[in-house]
Amino acid sequence: MLFSPTGLTECFREWEDLEKNYQQIQDTHRLYKQKLEEVTRLQDSCSVAIARQRKKLKELTASLEECKEKHPTPKLNPEDVDAIAEIENSIKDRADAFSEMEAFLPKKNGLYLNLVLGNVNITLLNKQSKFAYKDEYEKFKLVLTVILFVVSFSCRFLFSYRALDALFNFLLVWYYCTLTIRESILISNGSRIKGWWVSHHYVSTFLSGVMLTWPEGTLYQMFRNQFLTYCLYQRFVQFLQYYYQSGCLYRLRALGERHNMDVTVEGFQSWMWRGLTFLLPFLFFGHFWQLYNSITLFRMFQLPECKEWQVVMCGCSYLVLFMGNFFTTVGVVYQKYMNNQDKTKAKSL
Ligand code: COA
Repeated sequence: MLFSPTGLTECFREWEDLEKNYQQIQDTHRLYKQKLEEVTRLQDSCSVAIARQRKKLKELTASLEECKEKHPTPKLNPEDVDAIAEIENSIKDRADAFSEMEAFLPKKNGLYLNLVLGNVNITLLNKQSKFAYKDEYEKFKLVLTVILFVVSFSCRFLFSYRALDALFNFLLVWYYCTLTIRESILISNGSRIKGWWVSHHYVSTFLSGVMLTWPEGTLYQMFRNQFLTYCLYQRFVQFLQYYYQSGCLYRLRALGERHNMDVTVEGFQSWMWRGLTFLLPFLFFGHFWQLYNSITLFRMFQLPECKEWQVVMCGCSYLVLFMGNFFTTVGVVYQKYMNNQDKTKAKSL
């Protein structure tokens, strides 16, 4: 319990203590501001040095290329060829190293974040806060997945009101918008989310917005059940994705090797492959469902009673989602497979 002075003498003594303590606080805060200024100076000098090195490395790469062109390989001696190849490899590695460094340095926001948040610094300056932010992002998706599952289940099986459908679509618009903002912040903080997954959320925002404006009618009712069942399935897949992605995040954090593609830890690799092979059939089924939605909508568009522009817009959006999701997922899996093969080869050498 806090000591509370009773008599006047105790009050004076307490005031003296508080005065001393206040001096200490002032000193600590002065030191803190000094260190902050020091940090800001270091950040600036790091950013400037990185930019300068990048520029020089670019010029050096161009000069090396020119040298190679002017002296076709037979004329260059083998040592020079080796030395050039070594420098080129180091330049490539340095680009990755700079990206990692920049994840801890303040940088200008991209156009989207500038429009949404304004010119505010969103760089998280240590690994713990980066991890906590990513973890919070995954948890946010999980909570919204549960809420959206409940609402879409109610719309699909319990109530059939256009107003409730509108509420569901509005929730989807808000959810996807929020994801695009959070993902842009994650990317600024060094996350390697592929551009498509962010674009996928822009397209999904657009799609949900169009669904929101689709007026009640025969065509809306024709598509409604298929759409809501698809949404239910999507939430189910999202739940599996959460399990996989947060599993990866915790394991890699425990290993302390996020983004270090050269180090392989067999336990993690085998867990990741098991998770991925379990998840992939569900993901691909979802992608083909998107294609099916798009075909259904294009067929509906050909009906004589189709007057709503929303039908063709939603059809195009589903087609874009299918193509982007399918090819990106195939690309990600192929890349992981090749990385794995390279590591296995390197180990057997
Ligand atoms: N949405 C958001 N972030 C994603 C993502 C997605 N769909 N896929 C990957 N990421 C993130 C990862 O969390 C990781 O972030 P980090 O650098 O901050 O740690 C980064 O991107 C790199 O991930 P990567 O190693 O390329 O892939 P992964 O092993 O984490 O996930 C898949 C691979 C295929 C499981 C994942 O990309 C995925 O679920 N894709 C399918 C999404 C989809 O099709 N949804 C619609 C279903 S109907």
